[in-house]
Amino acid sequence: MFNKRTRIKELLQAGQAVNEVTVMGWVRSFRNNQFIALNDGSTNHNIQVVAELGLLDDATIKRITTGASLKVIGAVVESLGKGQKLEIKAKTVEILGDSDGEKYPLQPKKHSLEFLREIAHLRMRTNTFGAVFRVRHSLAFATHKFFNDKGFVYLHTPIISASDAEGAGEMFRVTTLPLNDAPKNDDGSINFKEDFFGKSTNLTVSGQLEGELGAMAFSDVYTFGPTFRAENSNTTRHLAEFWMIEPEVAFNDLEDNMNLAESYMKYLIQYVMDNNREDIDFLDQRLAEEEKQLPQDKRNELGLIEKLNFVLENAFERITYTEAISILLESNHYKKKKFKYDVAWGIDLQSEHERYLVEKHFKKPVIVTGYPKQIKAFYMRQNDDGKTVAAMDILAPGIGEIVGGSQREERLHLLEERMKEMHIPADEMSWYLDTRRFGTVPHAGFGLGFERMVQFVAGMTNIRDVIAFARTPGNCEF
Ligand code: 4AD
Ligand code: MG
Repeated sequence: MFNKRTRIKELLQAGQAVNEVTVMGWVRSFRNNQFIALNDGSTNHNIQVVAELGLLDDATIKRITTGASLKVIGAVVESLGKGQKLEIKAKTVEILGDSDGEKYPLQPKKHSLEFLREIAHLRMRTNTFGAVFRVRHSLAFATHKFFNDKGFVYLHTPIISASDAEGAGEMFRVTTLPLNDAPKNDDGSINFKEDFFGKSTNLTVSGQLEGELGAMAFSDVYTFGPTFRAENSNTTRHLAEFWMIEPEVAFNDLEDNMNLAESYMKYLIQYVMDNNREDIDFLDQRLAEEEKQLPQDKRNELGLIEKLNFVLENAFERITYTEAISILLESNHYKKKKFKYDVAWGIDLQSEHERYLVEKHFKKPVIVTGYPKQIKAFYMRQNDDGKTVAAMDILAPGIGEIVGGSQREERLHLLEERMKEMHIPADEMSWYLDTRRFGTVPHAGFGLGFERMVQFVAGMTNIRDVIAFARTPGNCEF
């Protein structure tokens, strides 16, 4: 019986009178003891349910409160009122679940994003988060469609890992050893041989190294899974648990890699423009209203839809790291000492530098290549200059780094040399080096931070607002 319901989105899309439908959802508001705005999450549009005076007894009317869940059977008719084309003339209204209107935290008024973060278990019932999470869903679906249509194999790489793929040491340990009574070695260090896996393990920071193993068999693979970083960064762009898409392609060089990343990002944007137009329109309006609160010089020149169209229509700018440094050094911003962090060849670009390049200088996404090898991971292919590697980062307006990738070092002796320089134990990585021992080929890949992409497409300022339940330093609610 329950599965007989019609989704509100489908009902509104059909746009026709129907003799009898069943809808179910949650009350957004109730006016004049007659007009119920009902929402089921399939769209931000509510269906107006009209319970004519006399249809319901007083006790039932009292129970129709904001947040309560209802089952309504009625006729879909043309609405005489303003604001909607169709409405449901109720025959029966059944209360599935009561909601104490006094205590329900979501009142029919505007709530701040900060407040909604505190009630993340309920915020998906708001228009903003309804739109954000439907868009997020579409981006995930479009990801699989994009790679599937290109013949990629989706590889599930492990969540628990014994390696630090990025060599950045920002890992969450996984252990079953007792914290207060861990077995020790003679030198006082913890004896991980007695731990669950017989060695020291952590949550993965990236599926790339395993992805490379897959690429050496299937040629084209991608991963799409959760990754974990214990970096103590309390910013609007960092999560301790985030999702990453990592394609890895045999026989690709850096340029192929850039082309793949750019076309993937554009595909995602186009997909959402084509399939989530209603939600994107809503988010465009939402952002415009949010920006009105900002001082003129802090506002974006383009609205959300204008920005997305602009990105679709223009090629990403491609520059080298060395060129990026020159642009920064020659900028008035630098000359007027407006950067907090100094600029010199060799620095890791700070977020303020990245944002200057994309937002002030180029005003579009920028792909930066050829970073100094000192600031990049051990697996990146070394360039002939001996100083730089075949890395590429994609920087997006309002976000900064959204993609990080590279051509990989496929030459065994150079990879081993680099690992030695960076004190990465080769014996523990023997499985990885085997790819270079047995049929090595040039290959390349990248990682796209899924939440950063959702932020970009949905126009949300804070990364905590594009994942259902954010994990950040000091915060693991829900
Ligand atoms: O640049 P990263 O660290 O690259 C890698 O992990 C490579 N193994 C990827 C590859 O080549 N296969 O991370 C990739 C992307 C970043 O560009 C960023 O978008 C996102 O992951 N990211 C984060 N997103 C949210 N919170 C964090 N703490 C993030 N750290 C990285
Ligand atoms: Mg990076």
